[in-house]
Amino acid sequence: MARKQVKMAVVGAGIWGENHAMAYANHPLVDLVYICDLDADRAKALADKVGCASTTNIDDLANSDIDGVSIATPDHAHKAPALRLVEAGKHILVEKPFTTEVADAREIIAAAKAKGVKLMVDFQMRWHPQYMAAKHYMESGELGEGVMGYARLSDTIHVPTEMLSWGSASGPEWFLFPHTMDATRWILNEEPVEVFARGSKRILKGMGIDCYDAVQASVQFERSFITFEACWIIPNSFPTVVDNQFTLYGSKGCIELDSKPGIAISSDRYKYPFASNSITRYGKPFAHFYESIKYFADCLAEDKTPESTGNDGLVATAMIQATLKSLTEERAVKISEVLG
Ligand SMILES: NC(=O)c1ccc[n+]([C@@H]2O[C@H](COP(=O)([O-])OP(=O)(O)OC[C@H]3O[C@@H](n4cnc5c(N)ncnc54)[C@H](O)[C@@H]3O)[C@@H](O)[C@H]2O)c1
Repeated sequence: MARKQVKMAVVGAGIWGENHAMAYANHPLVDLVYICDLDADRAKALADKVGCASTTNIDDLANSDIDGVSIATPDHAHKAPALRLVEAGKHILVEKPFTTEVADAREIIAAAKAKGVKLMVDFQMRWHPQYMAAKHYMESGELGEGVMGYARLSDTIHVPTEMLSWGSASGPEWFLFPHTMDATRWILNEEPVEVFARGSKRILKGMGIDCYDAVQASVQFERSFITFEACWIIPNSFPTVVDNQFTLYGSKGCIELDSKPGIAISSDRYKYPFASNSITRYGKPFAHFYESIKYFADCLAEDKTPESTGNDGLVATAMIQATLKSLTEERAVKISEVLG
């Protein structure tokens, strides 16, 4: 198979943008050319770390000969850089959530189609070994058809209060549901039909962060019904920043998945480590979440159409938009109501 060298850039030099930069910097077929961030110091610090140029001006990327760009700006700020780069003919990998409006997702998909560029959404759970195994066992028929499931992905309060500066513009639903809702839809191979949700806005709002503390959404898929939970107020004493549980009952069998990493550290407190740099060794980063990013570079190098598409991003956004509509209107909301 013909594989060519590709030139890449990253927009957004924050926590996750750094993971994109690390994945590209360690990919044998990638020349990482630019890091772009509105904050010049952040852009330069990451560019110096991975050995490339930095800029605060996205036009420098648009006007360059780079092939593809990762967009790792905050949840609500994916659309403008995505459209600017697609318009310039660049392939894009957009962090989850693809967009926070169905209409914006449609606009990016249409622009990418018109320009003939590749568009992938970074649903990294599709590259998580446990979720890949769950998908495999559903596909194999061993578990029968999906019946009922439970997917919890929650963070300690550190995430909205200390890690992210833009919690008020997002929330546990936009930050966490894209992962579980997309992974579940992917594993079930069923489309969502209707959502009924409940949520609470008290604790974070009282701290000046205007977003939900916790949201529970019951989603009816074509056959299966799944409860999704996302919460941003787990005490920091919890042994891991991310609490992740997934159970799926099928007509012939069941999958149970829990995210304990198999290593516990007891020092200042008892904890399960969750940090990409704790698993950087031999000069390279090792973690499943680099795999989706490397895969996007492979698709460019091999001129293949990536999985984890704009439409997958659109459906996840529609599920979350329906969740929010259900919370506001206190009723079950059909996905078709937000998809239009
Ligand atoms: N796949 C995952 O597991 C995972 C984990 C964490 C975050 N994320 C996603 O990655 C994205 C970034 O999150 P983060 O935690 O790195 O946030 P962050 O706040 O650490 O970094 C965001 C960066 O984007 C920059 N920025 C904002 N608007 C910009 C623009 N228009 N052009 C250029 N730079 C801009 C900010 O200055 C900041 O440096 C979010 O969408 C988030 O949901 C994904």
